[in-house]
Amino acid sequence: MCNAEVPVLTLDGPSGAGKGTVARLVSESLHWHLLDSGAIYRVLALSAERAGVAMDDVTALLGIARTMVVDFRLDERGKLQVLLDGDDLTKAIRSETCGKRASQVAALPAVRGALLQCQRAFRRPPGLVADGRDMGTVVFPDALVKIYLTASVEERARRRYKQLMEQGISGTIRPILREIEARDVRDCTRSVSPLVPAPDAVILDTTGKSVEAVVNMVLSQIRRCSGYTL
Ligand code: C5P
Repeated sequence: MCNAEVPVLTLDGPSGAGKGTVARLVSESLHWHLLDSGAIYRVLALSAERAGVAMDDVTALLGIARTMVVDFRLDERGKLQVLLDGDDLTKAIRSETCGKRASQVAALPAVRGALLQCQRAFRRPPGLVADGRDMGTVVFPDALVKIYLTASVEERARRRYKQLMEQGISGTIRPILREIEARDVRDCTRSVSPLVPAPDAVILDTTGKSVEAVVNMVLSQIRRCSGYTL
């Protein structure tokens, strides 16, 4: 199977819509590879910060983006770990500050271009579940199934708050909600790869729905499109 034939499921949508959890569970169920593209932007932002590079220094950011090797693996509890050149950055990249910086570097067209290859390299047999903002529109326009997950901003803030608490990161809901709203505006209005559903994406609103229900809806879309027996 050449890489272009490897089936891809894209899960795009705003922060906190449940993409990460759904992507992980679907990839486990199908035994497909997983690409958390947001983590790639977060790793770039964190690496830049650690190297003293400003979030608008395009030349220096490109230098980091072109050489960094990001990998994902599931730990013994099934949680996704994010590795940069073998270093575990899972927790460090999940802070709200890192998310904000990731969104700043993600608004730079040259940076997005430099990270295209790194993301496409995750397309390997037997298949790939790719989660992000532009997976179905830009990175994998030929994906087998494209899903756009969304939810109300209040529900997304509540979920993010719960997630941060579980990771032992303290915070309160109000600033999280404001940050999510600001990030939505940045993601939806940037000139390159704005957050929009692909014209051929199925839109799923996850407000009030359980993770299991959403995972089942996604799996049934794949079954419908591919005749996969899951
Ligand atoms: O999904 P996550 O919140 O980890 O992503 C962090 C930031 O990276 C997002 O707010 C968004 O600005 C950016 N991003 C992006 N394109 C992607 C994935 C993430 O612009 N495919």
